[in-house]
Amino acid sequence: MKIRSLLFSLIAAGFALTASAAEPIVIKFSHVVAGNTPKGLAAEFFKKRVEELTKGQVRVEVYANSTLYKDKEEMEALQLGAVQMLAPSLAKFGPLGVKEFEVFDLPYIFDNYQELHAVTQGPIGRQLLDKLETRGIKGLTYWDNGFKVFSSNKSLDSVEAFKGQKMRIQSSKVLDAQMRALGVLPQVMAFSEVYQALQTGVVDGTENPPSNLYTQKMHEVQKNVLLSNHGYLGYALITNKKFWDGLPADVRTQLDKAVKESTDYANKIAKQKNDEDLDAVRKSGKSVVKEPTAQQRAAMKRALVGVHQKMDDRVGLELVQSIYKQTGFDPSKM
Ligand code: LMR
Repeated sequence: MKIRSLLFSLIAAGFALTASAAEPIVIKFSHVVAGNTPKGLAAEFFKKRVEELTKGQVRVEVYANSTLYKDKEEMEALQLGAVQMLAPSLAKFGPLGVKEFEVFDLPYIFDNYQELHAVTQGPIGRQLLDKLETRGIKGLTYWDNGFKVFSSNKSLDSVEAFKGQKMRIQSSKVLDAQMRALGVLPQVMAFSEVYQALQTGVVDGTENPPSNLYTQKMHEVQKNVLLSNHGYLGYALITNKKFWDGLPADVRTQLDKAVKESTDYANKIAKQKNDEDLDAVRKSGKSVVKEPTAQQRAAMKRALVGVHQKMDDRVGLELVQSIYKQTGFDPSKM
């Protein structure tokens, strides 16, 4: 009788072992934007490739539109291991104490994607990602979104018109300084709360690439959009370091491959998505989309040039200068 029950437990244990060996590794990937955005599409692409490359050994669950966590909570959840991957915008690393990422928020620091990629795809970008390790985070790569436009229910027709307006910003001290340089009262707010804040008049306006403006329907509650392209918004794809380091080496190799492929994909579609969504905003007729005149553009640059120097201490002068060197940016020409 004893032997029979021992045998039975051994068989049961064997079954349990096989079952657990076949259990997929789950990656919960949380983000705050809509599915049909550069980040949302790249996350889905990443999921597809991971599941193909690992033949189902890894399952990726994508939670879009802040359905799982909002901006601040998702960072905490990643550090605690409640989710395994995120792609927060580069403006959201300040509260973690990694202030250097706010360098990407400096107005006009990148003129185009090519200049940006010289930084994000090179040694400066890598060094920045490595700074996250002390926070228990592994930085994997950068994903593009695009160049920001201003929107408001009030006039955006001149730099003076910005004075006294209230605008929502992400949690970045550089963005705070940028808004104050225009006489705007900045208000930090989670992305998921922006639409309602605009609709109810808690704030007059905001800034975001067209893709975020359109997919959150912000244009429906904003009378004016100014195609200022005054700054960049993009992402760092990050993971919980302990989780990543603990993966079997062969699985990690496949995930690295999927990271690389999804970066190529994200950076290929980002501009196209933003162009399409800007067109859709125009066609909606809900807000007036204006291109600033050359004079307006110059006045805006003059108003914002001081932000670079003002924020040198925050983001690190050496870092700012290494980016200038890489992109050929000259603040005296702004
Ligand atoms: C924002 O909060 O405006 C953006 O960071 C949202 C995003 O992730 O694109």
